[in-house]
Amino acid sequence: MDKIVILDFGSQYNQLIARRVRELGVYSEVVPFNVDLEELKKPEVKGIILSGGPNSVYDDGSPQVDPELFELKPLLGICYGMQLTQSVYGGKISPAEKREYGKSTLRILKENALLRNVPTESTVWMSHGDHVDALAESFELLGDTDSCFAVAKHKELPIYNLQFHPEVTHSEFGKQIISNFVLDVCNASTDWNMGNYIEKTVQEIREQVGDKQVILGLSGGVDSSVAAVLVHKAIGDQLTCIFVDTGLMRKDEGKKVMQVYGENYHMNIKSVDATKLFLDNLKGVKDPEQKRKIIGKDFIEVFNAEKAKMNDADFLAQGTIYPDVIESTSIKGPSSTIKSHHNVGGLPEDMQFELVEPLRELFKDEVRKVGIELGIPEHMVMRHPFPGPGLGIRVVEEVTPEKVKILQEADDIFINALMEEDLYNKTSQAFVTLLPCKTVGVMGDSRTYEYVAAIRSVNTSDFMTAHFSRLPYEFLDKVATKIINEVPGINRVVYDITSKPPGTIEWE
Ligand code: XMP
Repeated sequence: MDKIVILDFGSQYNQLIARRVRELGVYSEVVPFNVDLEELKKPEVKGIILSGGPNSVYDDGSPQVDPELFELKPLLGICYGMQLTQSVYGGKISPAEKREYGKSTLRILKENALLRNVPTESTVWMSHGDHVDALAESFELLGDTDSCFAVAKHKELPIYNLQFHPEVTHSEFGKQIISNFVLDVCNASTDWNMGNYIEKTVQEIREQVGDKQVILGLSGGVDSSVAAVLVHKAIGDQLTCIFVDTGLMRKDEGKKVMQVYGENYHMNIKSVDATKLFLDNLKGVKDPEQKRKIIGKDFIEVFNAEKAKMNDADFLAQGTIYPDVIESTSIKGPSSTIKSHHNVGGLPEDMQFELVEPLRELFKDEVRKVGIELGIPEHMVMRHPFPGPGLGIRVVEEVTPEKVKILQEADDIFINALMEEDLYNKTSQAFVTLLPCKTVGVMGDSRTYEYVAAIRSVNTSDFMTAHFSRLPYEFLDKVATKIINEVPGINRVVYDITSKPPGTIEWE
């Protein structure tokens, strides 16, 4: 399959570039900027994109590349990628007088395949501190803005530079430019679709696993469910799904999962009650990273114990998806680890399994498409994501059985209300978080001193950036009142209006 490789120089947008390319039907992946050039020479790599990044090219220790890189394949350098290209070819880079952040008007000065179907003037999104003062002599200018060189091309080689970010939706014709690069300049074939993906992955799972047994932790969430059905399609009864009741699940989750997957699909599913193990080990622990590590370790302990009861269970299948992989792959400079997702970063080193991760290359919306193709009912596939560590990271600071119970009740009220008012599918992820502080309230004639619950609901297409949902006040009012009236232990409800960035979706 043809692919476009994105070299990661640390831009928060580099996953978006990969998504835009995949939306065109071309496979794309993000790799560290210092990847071995041999990887890029492979014939399936049809083009290379250099992402933006927070560094200045002239700083000591800034990410640099072997100049040979530029002559391997058609190449598009974005933002830092442009500055790096220019510094390699002899252009001059300097700090801009003022950091340029936001919308700008791009003026096209010269026609080119990269700019086909882009009007002479359009809006683009800038986010840079440095800019190119003088282009390298071997380059020509194709477009500018009032304050910078915006588009350039090598006079002979297929090397293109953009100072703005075409991957961000604020760049009006950004998609068109990426499409021009990928389809016209690189000539990549559009054979990335979910049908092909399923076929390829089923084959790979069979080859990896042979006649061995596989264990999969089925949480009922979209990722683990789609992974389960996909692995089941590949190896049938060699798969045993284990539903671990961590005590940190949503209300009645265990019952629902056993009902949907145990009864409707003919999969081997075993339910294990490990509530005591998880909650005991979390006693007294406040730090979110530590909680994640403990939860990850407990999961493995449960799986190891289950493994001991089976013959030949050498594999653990997981619903790790692509954003988990990128966020957890920390290399110097680029996209640093924001947190260790328990699916990837938090696994203990003494794990006794080889991993099967059939969704490792997919973005969330692609996972959902795979789910639909596999015939999983839409209401299951369109479920909001639920983090692996569960309510363990939604009870902020110390997790206790009492707090988990309070949170489950409040969350259930909120989610049911969203469904009843037809708002669930209009939001991307919604939940309640329990804060570690108590505040004073008054109920009836008496003073109360109870916990604060925070309602969080976000809209996002990629979970990398998100806006809080504009839920109607009347709805929020109804939910808050119901929670306070019906959930002993909560006497105050707040609505979280933080976007991501700077906030994350989970509070932890
Ligand atoms: P943040 O809080 O980083 O969350 O903005 C982004 C998305 O990831 C989910 N999330 C996780 N999913 N294992 C998962 O499978 C995890 O450890 C984990 N942590 C966060 C979060 O719910 C949101 O959808």
